[in-house]
Amino acid sequence: MADTAVTEFHVVTLFPEVIEALSAFGVVGRAVAAGIIGISAHQLRDYCGGSIHAVDDAPYGGGPGMVMRPEPIYAAVEDLRARFAPKRSILLTPQGRRFDQATARRLAVSGDLLLFCGRYEGVDERARGLFDEEISMGDFVMSGGEIAAAALVDCVARLIPGVLGSEQSAERESFSETLLEYPQYTRPVRFRNMAVPAVLTSGNHARIEAWRREQALARTRARRPDLLAHKPGRNDP
Ligand SMILES: C[S@@+](CC[C@H](N)C(=O)[O-])C[C@H]1O[C@@H](n2cnc3c(N)ncnc32)[C@H](O)[C@@H]1O
Repeated sequence: MADTAVTEFHVVTLFPEVIEALSAFGVVGRAVAAGIIGISAHQLRDYCGGSIHAVDDAPYGGGPGMVMRPEPIYAAVEDLRARFAPKRSILLTPQGRRFDQATARRLAVSGDLLLFCGRYEGVDERARGLFDEEISMGDFVMSGGEIAAAALVDCVARLIPGVLGSEQSAERESFSETLLEYPQYTRPVRFRNMAVPAVLTSGNHARIEAWRREQALARTRARRPDLLAHKPGRNDP
């Protein structure tokens, strides 16, 4: 796999406004404004026309809801591949591999990404073969893939060099080394009878480092003991 940072996220969606909003604020918005990353939303309906009349149709065999037709999905993905040559294409679906920080790290060095957001009852089974991988945001069902795509873009973008102010801030966050992050405090030193731990105001950096490590371990043991059994790379494809 090429070791290049993502510069462009291409998102195919029926609701481009949701994806475009990502460029408008916060860390991701600043990275777009600085030209470090790009986020392009592509309207799936633009790939309907001629013999393709609608993006969805009733399921063969009956049942509730509508299914996304394969023709516009193929037309969109093939067109975007021809024009922008994204390195990986990803279908967002609750049936995919569960997204986590290891997956985000892998995607952050995978090159440009194409993300496809489903709607209705999801995509015609024949469209699945178009994608390099399928990713789920968790064991729950949302009404569309846009929020899943937004979460993925946000999470991957902050791992791209230059997106966060200090490279260290991503390195030390929860999951960066399979531990949850240590507790954080800011001013005031005392708030409603709750004091900042004295070690943090001691100025002794070695003691602060040791305290943070202990706290991160204790917190992970208490809240997410499963992470301590984590094997690096377990979520690599
Ligand atoms: C209502 S869901 C379809 C669920 C589908 N009938 C199933 O049972 O697998 C519509 C779309 O939302 C997106 N979606 C819903 N939940 C998701 C999740 N947990 N992770 C990623 N995408 C999700 C997918 O793109 C999906 O095609």
